[in-house]
Amino acid sequence: MNKKLAVIILAAGKGTRMKSQVPKVLHEICGRPMLEYVLDLVQGLKADKVITVLGYKHQEVRKTLKKDIGVVIQKEINGTAGAVKQAMPLLGNFKGTVLVLYGDTPLLKKETIQKLLDHHRKNDYAVTLLTANLERPKGYGRVIRDKYGSLSKIVEEKDGDEFELDIKEINTGITCFNKNKLTEALKEVKPNNRKKEYYLTDCIGILYKNNELTGTVVLEDINEALGVNSKIDLAKAYSTIQKRINEKFMEAGVTLVDPGSAFINYGTKIGQDSIIYPFTVIDKNVKIGKRCSIGPFIHLRDGTSLDNDVIVGNFLEVTRSKLGAKTIAKHFSYIGDTLIGRSVNIGAGTVTANFDGKNKNTTVIRDNAFIGSDSILVAPVKVGKGAKTGAGSVLIRNSVVKDGQVVVGVPAKPIKNSR
Ligand code: UD1
Ligand code: CA
Repeated sequence: MNKKLAVIILAAGKGTRMKSQVPKVLHEICGRPMLEYVLDLVQGLKADKVITVLGYKHQEVRKTLKKDIGVVIQKEINGTAGAVKQAMPLLGNFKGTVLVLYGDTPLLKKETIQKLLDHHRKNDYAVTLLTANLERPKGYGRVIRDKYGSLSKIVEEKDGDEFELDIKEINTGITCFNKNKLTEALKEVKPNNRKKEYYLTDCIGILYKNNELTGTVVLEDINEALGVNSKIDLAKAYSTIQKRINEKFMEAGVTLVDPGSAFINYGTKIGQDSIIYPFTVIDKNVKIGKRCSIGPFIHLRDGTSLDNDVIVGNFLEVTRSKLGAKTIAKHFSYIGDTLIGRSVNIGAGTVTANFDGKNKNTTVIRDNAFIGSDSILVAPVKVGKGAKTGAGSVLIRNSVVKDGQVVVGVPAKPIKNSR
């Protein structure tokens, strides 16, 4: 059995139905572009060749691709077959299976693709298609089968008649081809349809007519089939991926009090026995240690890192900051560009004024310091070990509070007898 695999990812379209200036495949889902989910999938398949077809704003899309991925620019966006045709020369004299993936189908799982490939190879089909049975198949190409149940062609939504559109089995777009047979079929594809486009799906009908064997694998989890064409689809994809991310955390021992209101981006790390309370937004690249307590109602932004046993409570925004072990910030605060040591208490309403209109400046608060309620720290500022600020104090720019010192007032001044 020939196990060679080439993958072609189609990502040239503008995504007209998204009504956006951003290329469709760059729309983000849980903190990363849609296309990256497809690229992850491909990486797991260990393909011999990977080619992406780009078009609309290709320079921007290209930035998400690793160097070892081939790129073809489709100058005229004239349909999915047009896109594949352009990619074929890059395959050279490759012999084996060509897997076509759509860049707007980010929910597919590796196991599903593997199943499709196995079925295709085992039966030596000319083409094998991943299909799904949807209650509401609107918008997708419909799967037409002959009287023996074999896949005979795909009819696009725009071109189908009443009976065809009644069919619930849809084309996910994910297709395996025998390379040589694909090359032959592509030659015969014509834009005889309402969109005047070259449809890749027509290759299936062509191969069937040429007496080639066609196969299908039917999706078990229909969620995987979602093709993102609109912002409504994007929200659906978001919620499925969010659910997967959240379930992974729960499986790893993180408590999510309400998974439905835990908005945690891809790439976040959270340690065992941490508790995430409702209405929590955690951006990408946030690191949370073990046994932390997060929220409710909190926004942890990019570059935040919490050591073990940290408590960050209601109505906080934390960005580009490190909080040492056992540090507590329980009530409404803004903490930005701040380095905080261990066992520090951040009083209610504390604000680090990190932006002076031009630059972001850093605040440093060392171990065991106590920041009184409603303190404003105008960065750059340093607060020493075990130092204290009184309630309502304002630490002006360049303030340095010495270890153990107590400061109060506006602007904050040391209390006599404190160090
Ligand atoms: C396509 C299928 C449809 C299937 C659905 C699954 C065709 C003709 N139709 O429809 O049967 O049910 O996907 O989601 O294939 N692209 C290019 N170049 C082009 C045109 C498209 O690279 O010239 C890319 C797009 O960027 C996109 C993918 O191909 O990533 C699919 O194109 P799209 O226009 O979204 O096809 P659908 O109408 O969804
Ligand atoms: Ca689509």
